[in-house]
This record gives sequence, C-alpha cells and structure tokens, in this order.
Amino acid sequence: MDSSDISDDLTTVLYTREQIAARLAEIAAEIDRDYKDKFPLLVGVLNGAIMVVADLSRALSIHCEMDWMAVSSYGSGTQTSGVVRILKDLSVDLAGRHVLVVEDIIDTGLTLTYLMQNLASRDPASLKIMTMFRKPDAFKGDLEIAYVGFDLPNQFVVGYGLDYAGRYRNLTDVGILAPHVYS
Ligand code: IMP
Repeated sequence: MDSSDISDDLTTVLYTREQIAARLAEIAAEIDRDYKDKFPLLVGVLNGAIMVVADLSRALSIHCEMDWMAVSSYGSGTQTSGVVRILKDLSVDLAGRHVLVVEDIIDTGLTLTYLMQNLASRDPASLKIMTMFRKPDAFKGDLEIAYVGFDLPNQFVVGYGLDYAGRYRNLTDVGILAPHVYS
C-alpha cells in the first residue's frame, strides 16, 4: 500500500519509500564500518520494527543475526508507564554479543529505557540503539541513540511499521494521520 491508496487518511506525506531506503543505506554503511568483524545481533522490537529490521539487515554488507522481542507497556489509556511486560523473549543468549536494538519510533523512550536495562543485565559485549524515527520534543529518557533515521514532528504518524488501531503498518511511505480517522 502506498500513500496514493489512502490519500484521504493522511494530511502530509513526510517520507516516501525512496527517501526511507536512501536513509537506511546511509545508516547501513555506518553500521558496516562500526560492526566490521563483530557479527552483530539485531534485536527487533515487535511489531513495529519488522520493516526496519527487514530493510536494514538487507542493506548491510556484513553478516548479522536477527532476533525478536515483544513487549507490552503497562499504563492507562494512551500514557506509557515505562513498566514493561515481556510477551516474547529473545532466543539468543546475549552474553558477549554486540547487540543493536532496532526500533521503529522512539516517543517518550520509557518503554525502551526499561528494555535497555533488562538487556544490559544479560552481559552483552556492547549494546546500542538504532531507531528509524524519533520525536525529540516528547523524548523524556536519557537514552543514547547511536543511529537515527529521521526526526519527526510531534504528531501521530503511520506507515513503515507504525500503526493506528492495527492499520497502516503496510503503508510504504510515512505520513501524518488525518484527524478525521481517529476523532
Ligand atoms: P514510548 O517511546 O515508550 O513512548 O513508546 C513508543 C511506542 O509508541 C512505539 O513503539 C509505537 O508503538 C508508539 N508510537 C509513538 N508514537 C507513535 C506514532 O506517531 N505513530 C504510531 N505509533 C507511535
């Protein structure tokens, strides 16, 4: 699905499939250099990061392994509490591994802060974060983010793995959701 299929649902297309692919190629080149001979483990956080992991891993020239976690955040309504329940844990042992957590979007960063503490306790050789999108105005944590695709405005966006009520994850572009969709 691309933005022309659902153009009434978006107020603005922020990034096209081509722009996302070009930015991922740049980040992949950095990761190729930084992780040469390190056989990194890409940890994707389900479900949003599926597209990023799929495209980033294929843009790399080095070997990598992939594994997945699913988490759910305790909280009321739309507020993230930062307390996280692990719904699906990793299969790979992190001890001594160079781990790169791959995220779709970091908003408050609370979920990821909790996750990083949990992963750090498993003795990885290194632990870094790559996120495709970041909302800087909302970011409350003190996470160090090694690789950022794009900074977003503080609005609700969909596409490229980001959903609203389970929809739009398969949108190839990323855009701002029109208010009539959720009001
Ligand atoms: P936080 O960083 O702990 O606040 O939570 C980040 C999570 O909130 C992401 O993994 C998304 O699932 C969701 N999220 C935050 N902003 C957006 C958005 O603009 N569109 C879709 N999902 C979002």
